[in-house]
Amino acid sequence: MDFHLYATCPDELVPILATEIAELGGTDIRSVYKAVHFQATKEVYYAAHRQLRTASRLLRVVRESAAATSQMLYDQASRIPWPDLFDVTRSFAIDPIAADGKESALSPAEILRRVREGVMQSFTRRQLKPPLVDAEAPKVTIVAYVQRGRCTFALDSSGKSMDKRGYRLEGHPAPLKETLAAAILRMLDYDGTMPLLDPMCGSGTFPIEAAMIALRKPPLIHRGKGEFGVEWMADFDKDLWRATEERLRAQRVPAPPAPIFASDIDPKFVDLARKDALRARVERDIQFSVGSFQDQRAPLPAGLLVANLPYGTRIGGAADDVKQLYSDIGDTLKRHFQGWTAALLVAQDSPHKFVGLKPNRKIALMNGTIPAWLLVYEIRAWRPKVDEPQDA
Ligand SMILES: C[S@@+](CC[C@H](N)C(=O)[O-])C[C@H]1O[C@@H](n2cnc3c(N)ncnc32)[C@H](O)[C@@H]1O
Repeated sequence: MDFHLYATCPDELVPILATEIAELGGTDIRSVYKAVHFQATKEVYYAAHRQLRTASRLLRVVRESAAATSQMLYDQASRIPWPDLFDVTRSFAIDPIAADGKESALSPAEILRRVREGVMQSFTRRQLKPPLVDAEAPKVTIVAYVQRGRCTFALDSSGKSMDKRGYRLEGHPAPLKETLAAAILRMLDYDGTMPLLDPMCGSGTFPIEAAMIALRKPPLIHRGKGEFGVEWMADFDKDLWRATEERLRAQRVPAPPAPIFASDIDPKFVDLARKDALRARVERDIQFSVGSFQDQRAPLPAGLLVANLPYGTRIGGAADDVKQLYSDIGDTLKRHFQGWTAALLVAQDSPHKFVGLKPNRKIALMNGTIPAWLLVYEIRAWRPKVDEPQDA
């Protein structure tokens, strides 16, 4: 039997996630708002939990039904045989999504209340004690997605959000989301066979995600027992789950095919990145150093430079300092990275024009709540103007 699933992600990453799902072996793939619908065999479904790099959550559809009114929603929720679907000795929560926004007939609070009542009713009808509701740390989350008079009831199979890889320590003020870093690397066709350098690595998200791609290491392979929602579902197949984990572990190659370099001007961030890499078990696969972007020189004739640029108060500088930094970055790329592809993730309202190079591609993304551009430059041969001083 195939499983009917949705993998969620920010809307601009939907095409990337759809490609990942196709490679994994998903079928009937359809892109919808902020999610990809697909079907999968149990093997593919299990592998998706550990292997998808750009998904935020994995939802397993239980039923889709008409739910135009509060009463219909309750009736539908109470008819689903919830006691047969998950471990009833465990706590659960409900995640109500009113996808029509303000025009929605049912508010999130109303959806939550009615679905909870319906779930409870499905237990009491069978004279069973309903499980505890735990909104903070539930083992099972029931998602109720209401749109245009219909409700999709699903079980959250991922548990914790899938960007929480488990390697990140506190300590950097502006780390990238792991799933966004992985999606950007994919947009740049990074597959581990070309050298990679992040000269502003911060907590190390780009190099760590790159190392996992290069090593063919699934991003959630180290997530512990019981941390995925699927492990609390009634039909959980422990043997297949373990066999899938072993199969995925066996795909790992011993070392990245090309080097990965990570650097930052602040030694404490390089230290943090090293610790995060150790937790991700890729520390030996990344070459760390402390230094400024301005002092970087291409370590090899060609490769991919990727950096998430600081801006405004985040680097503690005045506006002119930021413009100067962006202009220095442009100069460094022109002079010392010919033959490289450089991808800069910048805030849309940053002074990115001061980089002074024309991007070959410009991709709109959201970096959390900040509208951003991914500016991609193919750095070609550069000659100084006659009156321009040359570097040593
Ligand atoms: C937006 S953060 C990068 C965050 C990183 N992508 C992560 O996921 O943690 C920008 C980083 O640039 C570093 N930085 C600022 N000015 C720099 C310079 N001139 N050269 C190198 N790094 C610099 C900061 O120390 C900071 O860690």
